[in-house]
Amino acid sequence: MGNRIPEETIEKIRHSVDIVDVVSEYVQLKKQGRNYFGLCPFHGESTPSFSVSSDKQIYHCFGCGAGGNSLSFLMDLEGLSFTEAAKNLADRVNIDLPTINVSSDPQKIHESTKMIEAHELLKKFYHHLLMNTKEGQHALDYLLNRGFSKGELEKFEIGYSLDSWDFVSKYLLQRGFKLEQMEKAGLVVKKESDGKFFDRFRNRIMFPIWDQQGKTIAFSGRILETNSREPKYLNSPETIIFNKSKTLYNIHNARASIRKNEQVILYEGFMDVIASDRSGLAYSIATMGTSLTEDQAKMIRRNTESVTICYDSDAAGIDAAIRASSILVNAGCYVKIATMPDGLDPDDYVKKYGAEHFKSDVIGASHTLMAFKMWYLRKGKSLQNEGDKIKYIEDVVREISKLENAVEKDHYLRQLSSEFSISLDALKEQHQQFNKSLQNKKDNEDKNRNNIPRKPLLSKKLLPAFHNAERLLIAHMLKDKDITFKVQDALQGDFNIEEHRAIVMYIYAYYEEGHEPDVSSFLQRINDETLKSIVTDLAMLSINDDVSGLELTDYIKQVLKQQKMSMIKEKETAKIEAERQKDFIKAATIANEILQMRKALK
Ligand code: GTP
Ligand code: MN
Repeated sequence: MGNRIPEETIEKIRHSVDIVDVVSEYVQLKKQGRNYFGLCPFHGESTPSFSVSSDKQIYHCFGCGAGGNSLSFLMDLEGLSFTEAAKNLADRVNIDLPTINVSSDPQKIHESTKMIEAHELLKKFYHHLLMNTKEGQHALDYLLNRGFSKGELEKFEIGYSLDSWDFVSKYLLQRGFKLEQMEKAGLVVKKESDGKFFDRFRNRIMFPIWDQQGKTIAFSGRILETNSREPKYLNSPETIIFNKSKTLYNIHNARASIRKNEQVILYEGFMDVIASDRSGLAYSIATMGTSLTEDQAKMIRRNTESVTICYDSDAAGIDAAIRASSILVNAGCYVKIATMPDGLDPDDYVKKYGAEHFKSDVIGASHTLMAFKMWYLRKGKSLQNEGDKIKYIEDVVREISKLENAVEKDHYLRQLSSEFSISLDALKEQHQQFNKSLQNKKDNEDKNRNNIPRKPLLSKKLLPAFHNAERLLIAHMLKDKDITFKVQDALQGDFNIEEHRAIVMYIYAYYEEGHEPDVSSFLQRINDETLKSIVTDLAMLSINDDVSGLELTDYIKQVLKQQKMSMIKEKETAKIEAERQKDFIKAATIANEILQMRKALK
């Protein structure tokens, strides 16, 4: 590590940032009592066991044990180094950090910082070219013709790249960027013949692609006149700052609205997102022209449960929607599907029928996933034909058996029964069969899967009394200096659980250095994940602040008693060993000691 950030600065940053805000950028949190709850971003789950405390400025997952403060959250989730995480938080609250270049891999950090800098710079430059220059006028006309307002061009930071082979290369070079690095960033391309660099994006409308925080990490450039020689959209290649399968277009703009409306609309293209936003639906995002990935589905699920897929209504779009829906359902989302007349995409639809119709007749009229699948399964079949009809019913029942919700299952079985005049019992029987084979398949998958939580936690119900006593003591010690010193007098470090011994040593040191109780700051000193997990777990316990001296004494007694019990156990082993060696005098002495110790315990 290079220069360290002074501890006061770290403290200042930590105090200025609210962990709830930091976590909320990644996880949809709901307030419950004093704490906030959401789905843990560190392990896959469909019921929330991740909690964040605003009072204590820490988080803890009761499922996988992940725990820490705002700094460790960013470090663990974004894979940032300590300094990067500190810098990230400092930026949010406008605290200046001396420029430090510290990281696990300074080279790489330096490189990605430079790459983002170049993207940010070019974004502004492209935007300026579009809005204010003669060279960009035809691109501006094109966009205005397509229904863009100037406000939208500002909001989505759209730009124009000049029809030039080397303008950007020169521009970046003049500003001190290295072209080798800019090639890695995908902004320039190296000519094989002579090793010279030329601009990747030329004469295109430039859409910046942002990461979750809104930093520009890539571009997508659209040509002005569609021709068959060049791709309609040219995207940045994958780089160390741009990973397509983990990027969702517009998520940083849409996040607040997604949270507020508790839903999101997923599109195929950015033109659709912008048209949707124009219609007043700000909770709109898109994949990067590729199929939805599990990572993207998880990112979505962290923000909301309810997803409306709005893809093109052509054959390719329908297939893609079905695939995306199954990935989303697996990630724990509730999926609806919006459809449009064949041949139109959302952007076309808005232009043709207007925003209001789009909102009410497309998004507002979206189908449940099951209804959409029924429609899809029916396509191309003639239900007058017995064979087709039976196949259709079988397919639908198979889909119904995949549903989680019993009421929903019942609803669709009844619907099918009345539509085709088939007895509900027959359908239910068929459904049971599918259910069974599905369950078998799932059991096998579960067996083969190794997504065990990072640290399986002890089941707390089964803890022995002394273990609970130690936990409660530590929970009180984390909140109270005086209690800590009392415990120190009575027990020193003699806790029975090894991790507890380590934690109390940290606590003594923390208070001895003159600090006041503050779990979040205390956690800053602990590097061990297991210890952190225990500390955050204990800090989250709701314990009585004015604990009586009697209660504390009782816990201390429990701890001491356990120590004696352990000693008795050791003696018993020694006694057996003495007997084995036929040293009966020694065995008798030990037996006597054991007796005394047992008496003292009572
Ligand atoms: P417009 O034709 O401008 O209305 O765009 P669109 O959003 O209707 O585009 P389309 O439905 O054809 O494509 C949807 C998404 O697929 C786009 O937003 C791009 O991300 C991606 N895409 C489309 N064409 C290309 C291409 O030629 N190359 C690449 N790499 N991606 C493309
Ligand atoms: Mn389109």
